[in-house]
Amino acid sequence: MAANELGLGAAYAGWLASIDQAPEAGPELPLSGSDDAATLERLGVADQDAAAVLASRRQLDQAPAFRWLLRQCRRLVIAHMGDPGAPELLLPQLPAALGLAGRCFPVQLFLGTLQVTQRWQDGRGIPADACWPVFADLGRHMAIYRRAHGETGVDDPWWLLIHLRGLIYEFGRLQYNLLRIGAGWLAPQCWYDAEAGCLETGFRPGDDGLGVHIPEDGPLTPQASAASVAAARTFFDRYFPSPTRRLAICQSWLLDDQLAEYLPADTNIIRFQRQFTLVPGWRPGDQAVAQFVFRRTVDELAGVPQRTTLQRAIVSHLRAGRHWRVRSGWLRL
Ligand SMILES: CC(C)(COP(=O)(O)OP(=O)(O)OC[C@H]1O[C@@H](n2cnc3c(N)ncnc32)[C@H](O)[C@@H]1OP(=O)(O)O)[C@@H](O)C(=O)NCCC(=O)NCCS
Repeated sequence: MAANELGLGAAYAGWLASIDQAPEAGPELPLSGSDDAATLERLGVADQDAAAVLASRRQLDQAPAFRWLLRQCRRLVIAHMGDPGAPELLLPQLPAALGLAGRCFPVQLFLGTLQVTQRWQDGRGIPADACWPVFADLGRHMAIYRRAHGETGVDDPWWLLIHLRGLIYEFGRLQYNLLRIGAGWLAPQCWYDAEAGCLETGFRPGDDGLGVHIPEDGPLTPQASAASVAAARTFFDRYFPSPTRRLAICQSWLLDDQLAEYLPADTNIIRFQRQFTLVPGWRPGDQAVAQFVFRRTVDELAGVPQRTTLQRAIVSHLRAGRHWRVRSGWLRL
């Protein structure tokens, strides 16, 4: 029904099948609350976007298929709450033809699930103040979307499911998600071969770890990064203790060692790189670089600004027929 009503073609079939099987998750809560305007403000959503989200609700309320999608997605999030080894949860961008309601769907899901996440965090004794900074990622990503597309929405909505599942927290300059080596989609994609030798605790399949993320939020100074790692260590030891968690692992274009060919050794990016030990191997990184630096796709780089050393490096590297890489690296907690 949802597929027909919302015009979700074959590309959505796998996703619809996965959410169709979402288990019931206790009594259903209303998907929207009377204090959503205040919540959006606390989530850092700009007034213009908050107004658009609330306006899109009418369209959502009038479409049973939208309400079904929301309910099933929320059930799936609840079923995988706090489990870093769970299989990948998808949340694709809905078709552009659905307009504002489609673009706001991930935000409605966020608003409609947040209380369940907060209750779960409360049950673990995690203070609410430790959770709000990362929830405000919603506002950050909506601001990035507005800058890139000039309207209300959010790119890569699947990212927000990590927040709703209580898996990610923010301390100062960096964010950290719970992960399990070799299990689930949050695990590092390039990692050591468990067959090849005797891996020590922290590196073995099934060991716990933290994934490191760098939000777009001003300079990445070594001091800010060190203070953040120290705060994360204390937090996770207290609220998510694990005898096997030894590493913070970053998978990013920022760890591409080719950047050192272009950026001076005293830049924040190169100093950030030096904190990590690189894992052999890489994944293609051209799209990631284009997205994170220019908020474009790699095919849309003609005429992008060339104001900074990094912008010039990215474009000249690609023009030389070379490619950027997403590397994995780790540091000891
Ligand atoms: C990571 C980040 C905070 C680093 O910024 P920073 O601390 O200013 O970095 P550096 O001091 O090392 O910058 C070195 C050079 O690159 C430039 N630069 C760094 N990040 C840039 C960006 N996102 N866009 C354009 N130029 C950038 C700087 O201006 C500087 O060039 P200049 O000397 O000509 O001015 C920044 O790149 C950023 O916000 N990126 C988006 C988020 C991201 O990529 N996260 C990782 C996702 S996997």
